[in-house]
Amino acid sequence: MTAVKAHARLAAWIDEVAALTTPDRIVWCDGSEQEWATLTDALVESGALVRLDPAKKPNSFWARTDPNDVARVEERTFICSADEADAGPTNNWMDPAEMKSTMTELYRGCMRGRTMYVVPFCMGPLDAEQPLFGVELTDSPYVVASMRIMTRMGSAVLEAMGSDADFVPALHSVGAPLEPDQEDVAWPCNETKYISHFPETREIWSFGSGYGGNSLLGKKCYALRIASVAARDEGWLAEHMLIMKLTSPEGQVRYIAGAFPSACGKTNLAMLEPTLPGWKVETVGDDIAWMRFGEDGRLWATNPEYGLFGVAPGTDFHTNPNAMRTLARGNSVFTNVALTDDGDIWWEGMGTPPEHLVSWKGEDWTPDSDAPSSHPNSRFCTPIEQCPILADEYHDPRGVPIDAILFGGRRKTTVPLVAEARDWVHGVYLGATLSSETTAAAVGQVGVVRRDPMAMLPFIGYHAGDYFQHWIDMAKGASGDAARLPKIFYVNWFRRDEDGGFLWPGFGENSRVLKWIVERLDGRGEAVETAIGHVPTVAAIDRTGLDLDDADLEAVLRVDRDEWLAEIPQVTEWFERFGDKLPAVLWAELDALKARLA
Ligand code: GTP
Ligand code: MN
Ligand code: MN
Repeated sequence: MTAVKAHARLAAWIDEVAALTTPDRIVWCDGSEQEWATLTDALVESGALVRLDPAKKPNSFWARTDPNDVARVEERTFICSADEADAGPTNNWMDPAEMKSTMTELYRGCMRGRTMYVVPFCMGPLDAEQPLFGVELTDSPYVVASMRIMTRMGSAVLEAMGSDADFVPALHSVGAPLEPDQEDVAWPCNETKYISHFPETREIWSFGSGYGGNSLLGKKCYALRIASVAARDEGWLAEHMLIMKLTSPEGQVRYIAGAFPSACGKTNLAMLEPTLPGWKVETVGDDIAWMRFGEDGRLWATNPEYGLFGVAPGTDFHTNPNAMRTLARGNSVFTNVALTDDGDIWWEGMGTPPEHLVSWKGEDWTPDSDAPSSHPNSRFCTPIEQCPILADEYHDPRGVPIDAILFGGRRKTTVPLVAEARDWVHGVYLGATLSSETTAAAVGQVGVVRRDPMAMLPFIGYHAGDYFQHWIDMAKGASGDAARLPKIFYVNWFRRDEDGGFLWPGFGENSRVLKWIVERLDGRGEAVETAIGHVPTVAAIDRTGLDLDDADLEAVLRVDRDEWLAEIPQVTEWFERFGDKLPAVLWAELDALKARLA
């Protein structure tokens, strides 16, 4: 391949990695249909994938991971900045030289008996002014198949890189070398896991895990952790956000971005089917937004991804019909869901369970089984271009101008359905103190309230205090006109009543909240000023066709002084973690909140 040899830095890196990891062979991925067919055929042959019934899910596959490799491993994720202080108090840190020496020993001979795939990829459209490239070297064909769905990858990327384009080298190994006579397992991985980032040299080294967030290195590792560092240096934002196009019955278009922690509703909101007549949602992105200032001083957002890697359980025609329609078109990989007897997939939340399934653990499952059939963090991986409501703007390298940013979390109490920030800095305060109950998307205890600033706690590639300052400084980027910045809103679809039931129906009904947000952008929309921001009056939420009485709506909109007073010590403790790095204006916001609550 001439293009390959032409890129000296790439060729040298591949030689170096091959010499270290000693794969049996090296395969350059071209991204073609033929390559996909060969790869998936081989994975089916080896038992790593099961082909689904083409009549139900054409060209689609079922994968089961090792039960110990099901989610992102935050404990094993490291930001290896030269100076420990630059990683900040929210990241694990190790000296880059020390990490490289540790991981070099793990990588030594780790691809023995396997193929090393070279996966050139591009985050965002190839025809962008400055396309952002990466090359992943991996010994996992599952990763190659998934990368083909999630990124633009293959020969076209390599060609666009030419002989000297900059790229992020991203090295991945499952860490399971094969001896000559050793039979492979369906999901090779290693008990020892490292997901390491080198922000100064813009490199990613991942070892031991095949799970998406740890192994599809274009996603969380590149498009969030490494990109957030580049964004800080260059004055833009790399965020854990959905992007949607919202059109009112009058035809007015608004673009909204939303940051919710993992498994807290981004994919669902991005593909929402409004229950309010005449409103239309189109999808631009469901997980990651890169936002830069346009010449007009507004923030423009693009989705750097090419696929959807969505939480499976709970996804169904009632909650997210557009995801179901996307999946029906096939070309997808399903991981850790259940397999039906007729060669389709099933998961909790998809209506009445069939009489018999094969669970994500490969065991017989019936409705009487104690454990769920699918892992709570089981995922679908599917091409975004199959989404029937994909916005045309998705393809535009300039992206879309953002009118509103939503911050949201999963809170049983305290946080009302929606509140509008008083101004940009107050909005940054709301983002910086965002809290949510933990989910199965990361290894660890589920349901514990933790601070998850801008839904980026596991993804900020540098000091979170500097990150808050960067957000505050964005106000200067808007051509000096803060009015051009998006308005910031705080939402919570997950408030509960005393019996533990959701107070708000959620999903398509969230269009009622979006309508109020749009009215606020237009200077309409009735609100009351509370200690935490502007909250809609009961009359301001359109309840046409919704069976929710005044008392129920009041309960979900309520700002309870005692509940908010109880947050203050937690926020104080959270802010104290950042020491001198916490922007003074955020302390001032906390003081102002205290004063308003008093
Ligand atoms: P990541 O892809 O991990 O970053 O998560 P995400 O933010 O895309 O979360 P997703 O939309 O997949 O939602 C995760 C879970 O929240 C699913 O089980 C959904 O059913 C549930 N969920 C999403 N929206 C709502 C809602 O409005 N109300 C309720 N009650 N649940 C919701
Ligand atoms: Mn995510
Ligand atoms: Mn998602």
